[in-house]
Amino acid sequence: MSILFSQTIDTSFITKFEYGAMLYENPRGIGCVKCHGRGDKPVVIARYKQKDKKSKKVIEKSIIAPAINNVSFSLFIDKMTADKTESKVMPTYFLTDEELKSLYYYIKNLNKK
Ligand code: HEC
Repeated sequence: MSILFSQTIDTSFITKFEYGAMLYENPRGIGCVKCHGRGDKPVVIARYKQKDKKSKKVIEKSIIAPAINNVSFSLFIDKMTADKTESKVMPTYFLTDEELKSLYYYIKNLNKK
């Protein structure tokens, strides 16, 4: 459904913001929303315990999806085109330049809505 939708959609009917919002939820892969929530504040996506090898103490750890509404375009593009060797948590996406621009436009304008 998401694949069909984003490839055949006529974006002139909807605003750039709406198109970006749609991609945010359905970027042909796991929706950004699943980890980043609204995107305007850090979200704890997992907590786990790990034993410290030296001290033998169990420490609480967490994986946090950072707020993304203030990232620079270059960091955004870096992240969106990174592969699994660079982030162990962020999924790999295959978005077109046009899609990336709309998605970026959306996250940058989150505050204003
Ligand atoms: C499975 C969870 C998950 C999903 C889904 C996800 N992210 Fe992330 N994202 C993370 C985590 C965790 C980090 C921080 C670690 C890192 O940079 O790899 C991150 C980092 C980022 C960063 C860098 C923020 C910074 O300040 O360094 C951006 C930008 C970003 N994500 C955007 C997105 C967008 C846009 C989508 C959807 C296309 C998305 N993410 C989907 C988990 C996720």
